[in-house]
Amino acid sequence: MTSRPFNFSAGPAALPEEVLTQVAQEMLDWHGSGMSVMEMSHRGREFISIAEAAEADLRDLLQVPANFRILFMQGGGLGENAIVPMNLSQRNGSGKVDVVVTGSWSKKSAQEAQRYADVHIAATNAPEGQRHIPVAAEWQLRPDAAYVHVCSNETIDGLEFHELPDLKALGSDAPLVIDCSSHQLSRPIDWSRVGLAFGGAQKNIGPAGLTLVYVRDDLLGHALPICPSAFDYKTVAEAQSMYNTPPTFGIYVAGLVFKWLQRFGYAGKTGLAAIEQRNIDKAQLLYAALDGSNLFENRVAANCRSRMNVPFYLRDERLNDAFLAGARERGLLQLKGHKSVGGMRASIYNAMPLEGVQALTAYLRDFEAQHG
Ligand SMILES: Cc1ncc(COP(=O)(O)O)c(C=O)c1O
Repeated sequence: MTSRPFNFSAGPAALPEEVLTQVAQEMLDWHGSGMSVMEMSHRGREFISIAEAAEADLRDLLQVPANFRILFMQGGGLGENAIVPMNLSQRNGSGKVDVVVTGSWSKKSAQEAQRYADVHIAATNAPEGQRHIPVAAEWQLRPDAAYVHVCSNETIDGLEFHELPDLKALGSDAPLVIDCSSHQLSRPIDWSRVGLAFGGAQKNIGPAGLTLVYVRDDLLGHALPICPSAFDYKTVAEAQSMYNTPPTFGIYVAGLVFKWLQRFGYAGKTGLAAIEQRNIDKAQLLYAALDGSNLFENRVAANCRSRMNVPFYLRDERLNDAFLAGARERGLLQLKGHKSVGGMRASIYNAMPLEGVQALTAYLRDFEAQHG
């Protein structure tokens, strides 16, 4: 193993080094086929075997029930902000979509859905700052909403649902749609509470260009006439994600990440349970360092702090540039916060080892000792 810097990018984000090494080794000749995966027909037996294994491994890791289809699509999270309402908003003929706004990404989802549906903000944490998740019992859900949208991990604001809402218990029959782009595969998903989940691959799963959609069978077949065929979930599902050419290289890399995760061991656990435990430990370490500091602060309510994206601020913002320059010198990359909120952000996805977070917390302490 080479010693690479620790990369805290929010996405596209660090991938497991083992996977990158294997991709490099197989680049010119995949398993004696004489071809790179990039050069294979998506309908040939080699690629079909890659795609089938990737889907089966993902289903196994996330315990995706048999009545959900896993779709490998293109268009990213923002594409899904349009594709979901085009597929689901007329599911019950109402054209109504309820959205819970907890930060930048759910706000964008609401805005995009408005182009296709009657959107109602069922709850919001604006304007006092996006630092908590409104209590589900207080959401104003419409009885005839076609679905309810939440962003289960707000990548920019650093808020995460640690428990998905139980819409049935809230008196709603609507399916819950989650944008899980930035925490999919970091923890289990309670599928009994979800109708559809989507996320771009470029955080925990693989290269940008692949979008994962998990959709319950009964939600297929309701697309609006204006929905492009390539984005009609039923069409894509019936063609096993091969209605059009899928992002083949992304699926291949994702498949290697799934195998890596299946082998992954930590704290006496394996697979998803192991990575979840490591994610919990990394997040605790980093939040404890921030909370114990007089120079740095995280502003998110303790019960909804994200395990994946940790935004933080220097109380003296004049030190921002010095902080980032010192971080780069130590091999701690891409810590600058999103431009809309400023400050810093450490994204600590699955591929970030515990040592990376230890290196960051050591730097926080040293920087504070020098400048605090
Ligand atoms: C939660 C969330 N939703 C949506 C998006 C947008 O995804 P894409 O850039 O793949 O369209 C992002 C990107 O970072 C995200 O973090």
